[in-house]
Amino acid sequence: MKSRAALIFLFLLSFLFSCSQESEHIVIGVSQCSEDSWRQKLKQELIMTTYFNPGVELIFTSANDDSELQQRQIDSLVNCGIDLLIVSPNQVDLLSSAVDRAYDKGIPVILFDRKIDSEKYTAFMGADNFQIGKMIGHFIATGLNGKGNVLEIGGLKGSSPASERHEGFMAAMEDYPDINIASFEHGDWTEESGRLAMNMMLSHYDGSIDAVFGGNDRMAIGARKALQAAGKDSGDIIYAGVDALPEEDGGMRMVSDSLLTVSAIYPTHGDELMLLALDIVNGRKYDRDVFMQSSLVTYDNASVLLLQNEEIIRQSNYLRTMHSLTGRMQDAMELQRVIIILVLVFALCISVFLSFYVMAYRQKQSLSEELQAQVEKVERQRDELEEQRDKLIELSMAGNSDTEDSAESQNKDSGFILKFRNVVESHLDDPDISVDDISSELCMSRAQLYRKVKAVTGKSPVEVIRHMRLAKADRLLAETSLNISEIAYRVGFSSASYFTKCYRDQFNRLPTDVHR
Ligand code: FRU
Repeated sequence: MKSRAALIFLFLLSFLFSCSQESEHIVIGVSQCSEDSWRQKLKQELIMTTYFNPGVELIFTSANDDSELQQRQIDSLVNCGIDLLIVSPNQVDLLSSAVDRAYDKGIPVILFDRKIDSEKYTAFMGADNFQIGKMIGHFIATGLNGKGNVLEIGGLKGSSPASERHEGFMAAMEDYPDINIASFEHGDWTEESGRLAMNMMLSHYDGSIDAVFGGNDRMAIGARKALQAAGKDSGDIIYAGVDALPEEDGGMRMVSDSLLTVSAIYPTHGDELMLLALDIVNGRKYDRDVFMQSSLVTYDNASVLLLQNEEIIRQSNYLRTMHSLTGRMQDAMELQRVIIILVLVFALCISVFLSFYVMAYRQKQSLSEELQAQVEKVERQRDELEEQRDKLIELSMAGNSDTEDSAESQNKDSGFILKFRNVVESHLDDPDISVDDISSELCMSRAQLYRKVKAVTGKSPVEVIRHMRLAKADRLLAETSLNISEIAYRVGFSSASYFTKCYRDQFNRLPTDVHR
C-alpha cells in the first residue's frame, strides 16, 4: 500500500518535471549593416516570427554603415555559437572575408538584401535591385516622354544594391537615347548624403533638371530639399526613390504627400526570411536564390497601400497583445507547476517523516510495555518472595506459640505496632524497602518481627505494609488530582499495572472508580 502511494508520488513528480516542453533551441545571428526604419521593420518582423517559433533566439547586431565594425560583429556572432547567420553586408568587398570565415566554420549563411563577392553563402534573399533600377528608369523615361535631363544619386559605393540599381537604371536608359544622365554622385543611403550629393552636382551642372533618381527614398528627399534650398525645385521635376516604407517618414507616405513622384517597394518580408532560415537549419529543401517581388508606388495607389498597411499594423498589434497574454499565462502555469512540485515534495517529506515517527513511537511503546511488564514481574516476584519467607517463618513457629495475655504485654504490643507503622509510613514511597530493612530498623530479627506483627494484627508484615500502601493510595485517589501512576509511585509501587491489580484485590474495585 505504502509502496503504491510512493510510486504514484514519483509518477506525479516525474510528470510535472517533464511538463515543461522545451522546443529545440536555435540561435540565429542577424548582422545588420545599418540602423534605419527599413532595418527596424525587418527586425520587428523577425521578432514576430519567434512568437510561432519559441525555440528560436535572435541576436541582432548593427554596424551603422561601418564595414570594419560589421566584420568584427560577424566574427563575434560566430564565436557566440550561432546556428545560422543572416547578414546584410555593408559593402561587397569588405565583408566577403568575414562572411567566408563564418561559412567555413560550417555556419549556414543567408545573405539578405545585399551581396558579397564570394560564393561562400548558403542562400540569398532579397529583391532584384537590377529590376528595380530598370523599373524606375522606364517610369522616369515614360514620364519625360523619352526626353530630358536626369540626375542620379547612387547608394553607398561598394554595396551591391547601389551598383545593381544603377546598372538596371542605365539598362533602361538604353531604350531612351534622348534622355541624358546629366550627373551622377554616390550617397551613403542617408538623407544628408542625398542633400550633399545634389549640392555637389549643382556645383558643376547648371542645366535644366527634369528628373532625380535617388538610390533610396531618403537620398531622393535629401536631394529634393537641396534643390528647394537652391531655388531649383520647379513643380515639374520627377523625384524617384526606392523602399516605399509605409512609416510616418517613409517613401510611401512621401509619394502620397507628393513629395516624391514614385518609389519602388523594397520588401523586408522578415517572415519569409525566418522560414528560409528554419528550412536550412532543419535540413529541409530550400531555394538558394529567393527574389522578392517589388512594384512601383505612385500617387494613384499610395493611399490604398497605406490603408492596407494600417490594417496590417492593427493585426500585428493584436498579435503582439495575444503574444504577451500567452506569455503571461505561460508564466503563471510555470509558477503553478513549480508550486505543485514543491507541495508534492513537501508532502512526500512529511509522510516520510510521519512514517518514521510512527515507527519510532510504536517501538518506544512496545519497549515501554515490555519494561512495564518486567517491572511488574519483578515487583510481584519480590512480594511473592517476601510471602514465601513469611511462610517459612510461620512453619518454624508452628506449635511454638508464646502468647502473652497480660495487660502489660498488650500495652507493649500496641506501642510496638505504632512504632512499626511509623517506620513503615516513613518508607511508604520507597519501592525497594523490604521487611528485612524494617526489622533491622526496629532492632529485631525478621522472624521476631513476623511473630510480633502476626500476633498483634493477625497479618504478616508484608500484608500490613501492602495494606498501608494501598490505604494511602486510596486516600490520595479520593483527595488529590494526582494521576494513577503518580499515586502508585507515591506509595512505593514501581509498576502502575501491578498497583492496579493489588488495589483491585484489596478493595474489590479499580483505582479509576475512585479517582477524582
Ligand atoms: C536600408 C537601406 C535601404 C536600401 C537598402 C539597400 O539600410 O539603405 O534604404 O534600400 O538599405 O541595401
